[in-house]
Amino acid sequence: MRLLVCGGAGFIGSGFVRLRVRDHGDEVTVLDKLTYAGRKENLRDVIDKIRFVHGAIEDASAVAEAVTGCEAIVNFAAETHVDRSISGPEAFIMTNMQGTHVLLEAAREHGLRYVQVSTDEVYGSIEEGSFTEQSPLAPSSPYSATKTGADLLVSSYFHTYQLPALICRGSNNYGPYQYPEKLIPLMILNALAGDTLPVYGDGRNVRNWLFVEDFGRGIGHVLEHGVPGEVYNCGGPDECENIDVVRRILSLTGRDESLIEYVTDRPGHDRRYSLSASKLEGLGWRAQVRFDEGLERTVRWYRDNAWWWEPIRSGDYRDYYERHYGRALKA
Ligand code: NAD
Ligand code: DAU
Repeated sequence: MRLLVCGGAGFIGSGFVRLRVRDHGDEVTVLDKLTYAGRKENLRDVIDKIRFVHGAIEDASAVAEAVTGCEAIVNFAAETHVDRSISGPEAFIMTNMQGTHVLLEAAREHGLRYVQVSTDEVYGSIEEGSFTEQSPLAPSSPYSATKTGADLLVSSYFHTYQLPALICRGSNNYGPYQYPEKLIPLMILNALAGDTLPVYGDGRNVRNWLFVEDFGRGIGHVLEHGVPGEVYNCGGPDECENIDVVRRILSLTGRDESLIEYVTDRPGHDRRYSLSASKLEGLGWRAQVRFDEGLERTVRWYRDNAWWWEPIRSGDYRDYYERHYGRALKA
């Protein structure tokens, strides 16, 4: 398939590109703005097999250039960090909503299949049980509100213009190449460096963990086998309280619990996410990596790939960290 992958230099998008080039022989064009979270290094093992266009999804001319010759668009491009959406929502509205609109118009103009990569956060928080595709949308942060707005726009293009558009909503991803602002890589790198591990609130919030390769396969499955107009949830096989995730990372890095530091909670912090993947499983997808194995692989990858994270941890990320957590990183 000839694919336009937007946001393909990010964490999940780059994994998807690797998978599609390696296992499916797809011809891939990546369109990416290369924000702080997007890095060409994430694509280094496939960069000579793809076409890379540096540009923003909200820029119609960049999209027009990138989409030429493509049969389908898969949109990963987004501002993705909840904490950053709380301190500065504007970029989230521009990329997540306006950018999605520009892509939908391009898909409509060229009659392309369109997959929107979305999140379980559109459903809000759930105390018990799991969200299904029928659950009401109840986003709580500026990040999840803009992802919800984008999803609604995608659905409207199916209903109004019969655009063959699909939505795939994932639960919390983890794995190699994840920018260290997110819980798991942040805790791994702090533990390796001997920095404290900042746990929000009481640490009892629950997340539903999905290994990044499983999400990539799930999105590919929706692209190939999904029914236009439908939403597919891609939930991970395991749930875990944050404090338990942190304790496992301490054990895998050989550190003790004295590094744990409870810090001020995130405003509006969702208590629990849980996503049923039954519908996607009915289409033939299954998660292959359980949390124990995936976390061990992830810790090993960060330990072995300092070339990837050292420039991040010694660059702008240090300033972000100090501003957000009110303390400097040691190393
Ligand atoms: P990421 O922050 O690692 O990467 C985002 C990518 O999008 C980067 O390469 C960035 O440069 C690019 N980008 C940002 N703004 C852009 C713009 N205006 N134009 C073009 N490119 C732009 O994100 P991620 O964690 O890989 O998430 C990818 C997608 O998956 C997002 O849509 C996110 O909402 C969704 N998602 C993420 C998770 C998760 O746990 N990380 C779970 C479910 C769904
Ligand atoms: O559920 C899918 C979503 O998962 C994606 O749509 C988002 O793009 C992605 O960022 C992620 O959102 P979360 O807010 O769940 O992920 P984050 O890694 O920021 O936080 C995970 C949990 O860990 C959450 O309960 C907050 C907590 N946390 C996070 C950080 C960064 C801490 O306790 N300390 C921290 O320093």
